Amino acid sequence: MTTPTALNEPLWLAAEDTAARAEREAGWHWAWDDGPADGELRQCVWAFDLAEPLPAARLTLAAQKGLPGVWLDGRLLFASQDGMAGRELRDLELGDLAAGPHRLAVTVRTFHPFIQEPRQGGIGALLRSGDVFIAPQPGDWRIRTGTAEGWQNASLDDAWPTAVAPHEVIDWLPAPAQAGRLMRRRFDLPQNAAQATLQITALGGYEARLNGKRVGDALLTPENSDFRVRLLLQRYDVTDLLRAGENVLGVTVADGFYASEAIGRGRYPFGAAPRRLWARLELTSADGSTQLVTTDLDWQSAPAPTVFAEIYHGETHDARLEPAGWDEPGFDASAWDAVWMAPAPPCALMPQESPPIRATQLLKPRSIRRLTNGDHVVDFGQNFAGWCRIRVRGEAGRTITLRHAEIIGDDGAVDMRNLRAAQCTDRYTLRGDPTGEQWEPRFTYHGFRHVQVSGWPGELRAEDIDGIVVHSDLGITGHIDSTQPIVQGLWHNTLWSQRSNFVGMPTDCPQRDERLGWTGDAQVFWPTAAFNMDVRGFTRRFLADLRASQRADGAYADTNPPALPAYGAHGWSDAGVVLPHTVWQHYGLDSSRALLDEHWDSMERWMAWIADVNPDGLWAKRRDVDFGDWLSLDAKNLMEATTPKLLSATACWARMLGMMVQMAQATGRVERAAHFAAWHGRVAAAFAAAFVQPDGKVGNGSHTSYILALAFGLVPPTLQQTAADQLAANIRERGTLLTTGFLGTPFSLDVLADHGHADLAVALLLRTEYPSWGYMVARGATTIWERWNGDTGDVAMNSFNHYALGSITGFLYRRVAGLASEAPGFKSVLCQPLLDTRLGEGNCRLTTEHGVLASAWGLDDAGRPWFEISLPAGVTGRMALPGGLSQPLGSGTHRVVGKAR
Ligand code: BGC
Repeated sequence: MTTPTALNEPLWLAAEDTAARAEREAGWHWAWDDGPADGELRQCVWAFDLAEPLPAARLTLAAQKGLPGVWLDGRLLFASQDGMAGRELRDLELGDLAAGPHRLAVTVRTFHPFIQEPRQGGIGALLRSGDVFIAPQPGDWRIRTGTAEGWQNASLDDAWPTAVAPHEVIDWLPAPAQAGRLMRRRFDLPQNAAQATLQITALGGYEARLNGKRVGDALLTPENSDFRVRLLLQRYDVTDLLRAGENVLGVTVADGFYASEAIGRGRYPFGAAPRRLWARLELTSADGSTQLVTTDLDWQSAPAPTVFAEIYHGETHDARLEPAGWDEPGFDASAWDAVWMAPAPPCALMPQESPPIRATQLLKPRSIRRLTNGDHVVDFGQNFAGWCRIRVRGEAGRTITLRHAEIIGDDGAVDMRNLRAAQCTDRYTLRGDPTGEQWEPRFTYHGFRHVQVSGWPGELRAEDIDGIVVHSDLGITGHIDSTQPIVQGLWHNTLWSQRSNFVGMPTDCPQRDERLGWTGDAQVFWPTAAFNMDVRGFTRRFLADLRASQRADGAYADTNPPALPAYGAHGWSDAGVVLPHTVWQHYGLDSSRALLDEHWDSMERWMAWIADVNPDGLWAKRRDVDFGDWLSLDAKNLMEATTPKLLSATACWARMLGMMVQMAQATGRVERAAHFAAWHGRVAAAFAAAFVQPDGKVGNGSHTSYILALAFGLVPPTLQQTAADQLAANIRERGTLLTTGFLGTPFSLDVLADHGHADLAVALLLRTEYPSWGYMVARGATTIWERWNGDTGDVAMNSFNHYALGSITGFLYRRVAGLASEAPGFKSVLCQPLLDTRLGEGNCRLTTEHGVLASAWGLDDAGRPWFEISLPAGVTGRMALPGGLSQPLGSGTHRVVGKAR
């Protein structure tokens, strides 16, 4: 029985075994050459002599930045894809090594495509067999620059300088993947608790159980964050799970987000090993007395059946290793290990207030095919984020392997090439229960539609496997139902890309070795996201993450958590202003005031970061990693400026300044409103002078040049129509297609419709030839593709579940469904229906702070398009029709009829 004391603060318990501890403590030595940081490939050799044979040897190898090839004694151990890895760690089983000389040869890639200036590299290794550790010192390595063939076995003459310790400090301690740990604490309660709250978190992933039952329904806890600064803490009411007498709190700890790889940073991206558990269970009895059970040295631990679990690579579970009843009273834990403490991390523990990640839907297979090798391939008919749940009966020791992918190759098997380094593979080894067993992973997730199942006993049937859809459980607020297949497909695909990518953080993609909180993707998508779901809590959480990683000089990170050293990119870091503005616009001031206030100073610092060095109003300096109109149609390489980057940067700046003016006014910051208005005037004038020609041409004439300038009000009024007409003419000249990338796309159709080209906007919306949204739909997409040419594009940069281009779905709500907000929070609705026969029939429901708004559209018997809007009590609006007609709207239903085509 624990005696409650005020000093009974939880300890951080290491969730590792003695071998992992010894390995961690064995030390790590980085080596590099003495030359300049130049971005060139290095050839590194460690020649070593073993006095004794080394049985079942394991090699942990790490490099800053990447490891394209590794050879032992001339034999290739592995070659990795030339991805974007900024740090790479490999844990390799070498088998038995004979006594005598050996040679490890490694190529190290130092160039990082997103970081323009070359950085120094580093290589390190740790060879292990049982409790023997061999860690080469810098002087044990030979390192040279080069790409020559056959170097792996070349003699180590003077052309191979001896390595030294790197000049640049490498703040990264590589630690290899480990099995999960079971952590267990027994405690006694004299009587039933009247109230019990468990607060728990981990540096790693955890699943908590009380007396054999799972605590709560939050998944993938704790969610991703920059663990150096912020760690989310979950709080559960567990009163009903407790009983008088013996109780057991049992927790499985695995790598989770904390210890899994992050592109650009390798494993343990935001903090060192070991994984750690922290828990505090507070119980109040009926008589008011309280009792605390915390992570203390009375816990015990044991190996978990989760023998491998990694966010990107998948989970391996051996059910034979499950100690039956380990999380229940009466279990004999006498053989379990004692626990030990680990240092408290420097981060703040933040109670999680945003909606947790949950399983929200179960998908059944649409088809199951059998391959000639006996594998089954399941198609769930929908690309999504989550995993599979299987029910199986078979003999103990049989292993079932599940390989997840978005696409199928020509051979009918899953095609995993676009996942890059992510292995996305789960394995389950049966315990052989004659009544059958059910399993699903808990410490990984995949972005997939198809799963290839190997090792299944007999025929896999639909009832044996489910697709479990997993994401941050935000309420769905928008719904569009249309008979027009492109409209319907676009809406559906966008919602599913949002579901797949709102997983704790707003990620770019849910499947490949990336899954980063790219701010550019978020900011272009947020206005659409807010139509689809209630994003308030999710935004507040993400903005807190943005602030946590905001650089001291004011720049926001381009990814959050900041996996890559890229800050302040225009169109990306704009998220720091666009997201709060979107929340204010969409939900009104009552719902956003706290968020705007807590975020205000941070936005000021970000705005100052740009203004301080660009006094003349063009964003020329401090553009760091300059993505620009990313993945635009005409770009032949990723960084090509199909729209001048000075133009897109300055346009983004002007837009943010305009938002700052509005938010300052709304929150009573009168002086700041004037300040930002003055800056806005300066930037807008500089933009017009630099990029708008007297004949109305904008920038280099690219679609995005025109679209950004028109959408952000940067074309002088007298030239706006001319510019819009030029844009429309060029779109037609190109074959009624858009050439926009991430930055121009979201505004493209609104700009056309707002300037008298609704006809063209609808044609683009419904286009099905390449490139278009309809092309994706017509090709069977069930989510939005990263690239317009997702089906034929570069495999390395080819996600089929990327919401950025789906940012056009805001147009469906605003113009097809006629529901735009004219006053923050939809207190007043701007209804501008398109009345276009090509749009077929449909309806929309949108839940707002002021009630449910509804609209419907269709064709009457005479072939004329009609449109109807219903506003709840207390909501007013304005209907603006083609041709300049405008009428006020009150609550109730209003109908208009247009002309047949
Ligand atoms: C991501 C994008 C992201 C970009 C940066 C990519 O790898 O998938 O969506 O915004 O990098 O330009």
